[in-house]
Amino acid sequence: MNYKEALQHPIFKIISQSAKELQLDSYVIGGFVRDFILKRGAAKDIDVVAIGDGIKLAKQVAKNLPNRPKVQVFKTYGTAMLRYDDIEIEFVGARKESYTEDSRNPAVENGTLQDDQNRRDFTINALALNLNAENFGDLLDPFGGIQDLENKIIKTPLDPDITYSDDPLRMLRAIRFATQLNFTIAPESLHSITKNAERIKIITNERIVTEINKILESETPSIGFLLLEQTGLLKYILPEITALKGIDEVEGQRHKDNFYHTLEVVDNIAQNTDNLWLRWAALLHDIGKAPTKKFSKKVGWTFHAHEFEGSKMVYHLFKRLKMPLNDKMKFVQKMVFMSSRPIVLAQDIVTDSAVRRLVFDAGDYVEDLMTLCEADITTKNPKKFNKYHNNFKIVREKIIEVEARDHVRNFQPPISGEEIIATFNLKPSREIGIIKEAIKEAILEGVIPNEYEAAYQLMLEKGAKLGLKWVND
Ligand code: CTP
Repeated sequence: MNYKEALQHPIFKIISQSAKELQLDSYVIGGFVRDFILKRGAAKDIDVVAIGDGIKLAKQVAKNLPNRPKVQVFKTYGTAMLRYDDIEIEFVGARKESYTEDSRNPAVENGTLQDDQNRRDFTINALALNLNAENFGDLLDPFGGIQDLENKIIKTPLDPDITYSDDPLRMLRAIRFATQLNFTIAPESLHSITKNAERIKIITNERIVTEINKILESETPSIGFLLLEQTGLLKYILPEITALKGIDEVEGQRHKDNFYHTLEVVDNIAQNTDNLWLRWAALLHDIGKAPTKKFSKKVGWTFHAHEFEGSKMVYHLFKRLKMPLNDKMKFVQKMVFMSSRPIVLAQDIVTDSAVRRLVFDAGDYVEDLMTLCEADITTKNPKKFNKYHNNFKIVREKIIEVEARDHVRNFQPPISGEEIIATFNLKPSREIGIIKEAIKEAILEGVIPNEYEAAYQLMLEKGAKLGLKWVND
């Protein structure tokens, strides 16, 4: 492979020239090199190592760039960053590093390129390309990273116990890369992750969530969740999901393993949507099943109101992981809360009124809800599988049909409270609510169309029944 091809962007010559002016060596390292070799598309993040002062090099590069971009300096880490075109370039001086036991704040010393490569997470992320004029584009691969890329292996450059205890987030990164790239984690690495899993506790929630999101955004997220479970990491970061594991049997009655079911649902939905929050909803749709699980002789296993319980748990989970408690969280809650609605529909004959109620309750999220519920069909019985999918197809068609006719999505009542007050000369009172509810119910049930005239007539009838006098002006 000609690695010079990776360095065609003019920025690399400018970095090379700037380093020469400062009389230091520089290299491109890490994800940029890895992704070039894997042909994952041109990366927008470039990491540059200087054998010397990385911040100085960043400033020199900025000086040599036509638009003189601003250099952002992170003094504590000895790094600097600048943007050019839409590329983000991070500069760091080569370091010999050791991390303290209980934090990930490194104690830093200057080092050689080899020192710097030693302290990187994986062999495939320690690949470096020379930027010095005389060896421009030469590959430096001291740990067989190229071989590991070919063999699809995630391996640490040093003893995995050292690499993972230097920064325990790397345990999650290993699993995340294995999921994204469909690579295998080397057995000694996997063993070390299992041994050190508890150390994930010292990592901030924000960094953990970044990795979970990347696993969820992968083509087959279950690869990651299975590894998280297998290594024991999952119980520290998402105990709600671990709790779904296992099958109980009482009097010969068993329920399905909701952990494996959940992973199937997540893989299914990953085929149909890139919406990260919908993928989160798939991951969390059954979390209420663990705390609501009960067995009774009469009905066997039940998970009564697990959707309600689950939607409450979504809030606590987001809060614990310091995820945004905003409309995204509310969306996930709503999906979890409504996750069983369409399946109930699909088991039966699909009526217009049931579909109207679904659209009324789900509003703009009705299509997302359908996508979730289609992914939720994991039955291995082909007859049932086809029946549910066919019924969901009918539901989807009816959603369009019913919406075109009745406009119940983001429902606006055809008769306002003010009009009811004026018609019967009322003071604010409960009768207004009763009439409004009756009109809404009649529309959803299909007794009247969602139109002013019909609603007006119903208002008069309801008012008469309530003994109200019609003020006919
Ligand atoms: N790195 C590391 N340990 C970490 C994080 C990063 O050794 N905990 C090193 C790796 O060499 C990595 C480089 O820093 O390649 C850049 O890290 P980052 O930008 O986080 O990841 P990438 O490898 O670029 O991959 P991605 O963009 O997919 O996150």
